[in-house]
Amino acid sequence: MKLFIKKPIAQLMAAAQEGEKTLKRTLGVGSLIALGIGAIIGAGIFVRTAAAAGEHAGPAVTISFLIAAAGCALAGLCYAEFASMIPIAGSAYTYSYATMGEFIAWIIGWDLVLEYALGAATVAIGWSQYFNNFLESFFGVHIPFALCHSPFETSTTTTGMYAAELGSHGIVNLPAIFILLMLTLLLIKGTAESAAVNNVIVIIKVAIVLMIIGLGWSFINPANHTPYLIPANAGTVKTNTGIVNYADTFNHGWLGVLRGASVVFFAFIGFDAVSTAAQEAKNPQKDMPKGILISLVFCTVLYVLFSHVLTGLVSYKEFLVQGKEASVTYAISAVMHGYGWLAKLVTIAILAGFSSVILVMLLGQTRVFYTMSIDGLIPPVFSKLHPKFSTPYKSQWLFFIMVSVFAGFIPDSIVGDMVSIGTLFAFVLVCLGIMILRNTDPNLVRPFKTPLYYIVCPLGAIICLAMMGSEGLENWLRLFIWMGIGMAVYFGYSIKHSHVRHGKPEAANDPPNPKFVE
Ligand code: ALA
Repeated sequence: MKLFIKKPIAQLMAAAQEGEKTLKRTLGVGSLIALGIGAIIGAGIFVRTAAAAGEHAGPAVTISFLIAAAGCALAGLCYAEFASMIPIAGSAYTYSYATMGEFIAWIIGWDLVLEYALGAATVAIGWSQYFNNFLESFFGVHIPFALCHSPFETSTTTTGMYAAELGSHGIVNLPAIFILLMLTLLLIKGTAESAAVNNVIVIIKVAIVLMIIGLGWSFINPANHTPYLIPANAGTVKTNTGIVNYADTFNHGWLGVLRGASVVFFAFIGFDAVSTAAQEAKNPQKDMPKGILISLVFCTVLYVLFSHVLTGLVSYKEFLVQGKEASVTYAISAVMHGYGWLAKLVTIAILAGFSSVILVMLLGQTRVFYTMSIDGLIPPVFSKLHPKFSTPYKSQWLFFIMVSVFAGFIPDSIVGDMVSIGTLFAFVLVCLGIMILRNTDPNLVRPFKTPLYYIVCPLGAIICLAMMGSEGLENWLRLFIWMGIGMAVYFGYSIKHSHVRHGKPEAANDPPNPKFVE
């Protein structure tokens, strides 16, 4: 059995030829950049910046952002080369099919479900919490505890927004399912329509981030930036969940900055989703690399400026007590007197940010499965296109159901961290894929070439592996279990239906597909 059978690039290109039943090419370079920013700016910047600064990096969280960005940029260059060379839906899955063979392609396609589908579920649960904050702070009403929590969560307070009888269980997270339904309907309507909504959301959230940077800059207190790295003798701080000791290895100095990088890595997740829409780009060869790299650079600059301002407003130690989303509103309210309205706008920026992240993740997920279905590795239903809208509507509905089960009935803590480790794993394989292809097929036409690939590729893989290393044993175990399920599906179904293996196109929308050869 040839596990590593490859799909020839010529065949991939033939499959990309636009036929009347394939995805429509509607996205220009502006929409692709907005798609990238749409997927990148979300919870990460508003929630994780303060956590990384408070616990690990202090004001040097700006450097943590630069390290995480470096890992993403190196992987991003590799994505850009692949996307220009193989401009077909499916992203990293498609690239690895051509370079490392079907088995690795399956692993990466299965792994991307962690990034996109579970990512969408996690962010939908976050959206639900902020939606309740929004209702409470703007209208003084909120959704009852039982209807915005999973059955695995129990009430811990009898007062405030989440008041309920102590120990009573949640039933279902309705707001999370609601936002997934709205975005699924939008995606079914069309990619151009979805991109238009995404563009508006991107403008709103970027405007609010810029306002915080611009208005907050003059309130920076240089004393909060001194010293820039947390010293080992900074003492201890009691938090709601325990005591943080700054003498611990990853809680100060350069190692703290490194740990901070793996915390804020989440803020960059999603830039690669641009590459899943390659088949819907008007000019993929030129525009995909631009979409990936420009959105990444733009967000890195915003993140560094934002975190510089945030840690300048109040001391990093205060973020241990005023954690998560409260951190940004807390810092604004504590120091920027007269800007209470800005603190309220943060909730809107977060809601908008979360919506576009979910939108792009759902888009990415169905496009990866569309391609896997065309290849026969998963059932043909995932590549059925809507007769009028030309979107994979059945797949969209199936993922709505699957993601809703996670978002509605399972707490986010179970799925959240799997998103990061799954994404990093995909990045490692993409970096290795470019390295392999440069050696095995040096003469392929490459409209965009990764500069200094012999440094960029291994370094990208090493940085991403290092971040994976700090993810903890529990997450590695979850990754292995997920991959184990994937193996069962591959050997139980995919290997028997693979078109590359058996040369019989089954997916309804597959273009003419001559017998594949290895
Ligand atoms: N990058 C996305 C966020 O920060 C996942 O929400």
